[in-house]
Amino acid sequence: MRLTVADFEAEARAVLDPVHYDFFAGAAGDESTRQANETAFDRLRLLPRILRGNDKRDLGVSLFGRALSMPVAIAPTAFHRLAHPDGELATTRAAAEASTLMIVAMAATTTLEQIAEEARKYATDGDPALWFQLYLQPDLAFTESLIRRAEGAGYQALVVTVDSPVFGRRERDHRNGFRDLPPGLRCENLVGDELGPGGSGSGVRDIVMDATMTWERIDWLRAITRLPILLKGALHPEDARLAVRHGVDGLLVSNHGGRQLDGVAATIEALPAVVAAVAGRIPVLLDGGVRRGTDVVRALALGAVAVAVGRPVLWGLAVGGAAGVGEVLELFRDDVDRALALCGAAGPRDVDAGLLGPAPAGPLSR
Ligand SMILES: Cc1cc2nc3c(=O)[nH]c(=O)nc-3n(C[C@H](O)[C@H](O)[C@H](O)COP(=O)(O)O)c2cc1C
Repeated sequence: MRLTVADFEAEARAVLDPVHYDFFAGAAGDESTRQANETAFDRLRLLPRILRGNDKRDLGVSLFGRALSMPVAIAPTAFHRLAHPDGELATTRAAAEASTLMIVAMAATTTLEQIAEEARKYATDGDPALWFQLYLQPDLAFTESLIRRAEGAGYQALVVTVDSPVFGRRERDHRNGFRDLPPGLRCENLVGDELGPGGSGSGVRDIVMDATMTWERIDWLRAITRLPILLKGALHPEDARLAVRHGVDGLLVSNHGGRQLDGVAATIEALPAVVAAVAGRIPVLLDGGVRRGTDVVRALALGAVAVAVGRPVLWGLAVGGAAGVGEVLELFRDDVDRALALCGAAGPRDVDAGLLGPAPAGPLSR
């Protein structure tokens, strides 16, 4: 029975090639941050309000002037066709049908244009919420061409991943010898430019993790696009302040699902200081370990406008394509709605730090 995200993961594990399952499930080093992302939510205990008469709830939130039907979005993850032959087209259909946001990964196995076209087909109002995630490449002309493509295809924001000056060491992938996509699958946004400086001669440009990058690159980006820019992976409050100073429009508090630096704080632990640092000037989102409606409520209580989910969507995709992703999104919607009702809240607007009680003592496990 598929009652929880864990049920979807168990089913996905049964259908996926074990090497690919490990790629999706795994993280860096001892995977302590991946685990902490989930367990840290349990340290925050809820203190619900009662007798508030909230029989009509509205889960909607607004981001950069655009309405989402719930505060749960799809985090950018690579290689959806490794999970299901329909790949990103299935994921984007489910997001559009659920009227929520999909953040499309640069490392998608479908072109960003095809994804946007599919989303428009299924969005209830023909105008789906789509953001594009990218790693800024040292080849600025190539980076700019990608941004122009995203703008042209109707993406409404750019999400720049800044936690990856080098690749994290994902030991499951090393042990499994998983280095690249199998024949027939490729990073479609990077095709046809193999002669560029990042080229591998394979017909597909490699994604370069650029350790030379500084805030100057963000200034460059700010100057070449009018799209809202979000940074994904800023965890230090000082970096949050710098982001505001450099004209960044939003932050996605993320540790890459624990896939980059193991030992980093759980995202729910890092969130309050980031929220305090930006002081309401720009919206803050969070991803990492969100598995329950009560996790969403806790992130909202600490000041996130919305959360994003990565692996849960991949499990839904693996077990049932678009329908599977849809099931996962509706599971979250139902769970968030129930959690809000039980907290005496009519919607995200009613959720604040007053809903959180003192942390319990002692170790927790999930
Ligand atoms: C298989 C996989 C691939 C990912 N690929 C990307 C990526 O290409 N770009 C990126 O910014 N984040 C990537 N992420 C990180 C997610 O955007 C997100 O931060 C993370 O999955 C959230 O944690 P969760 O999986 O616990 O929900 C990936 C995560 C996974 C699990």
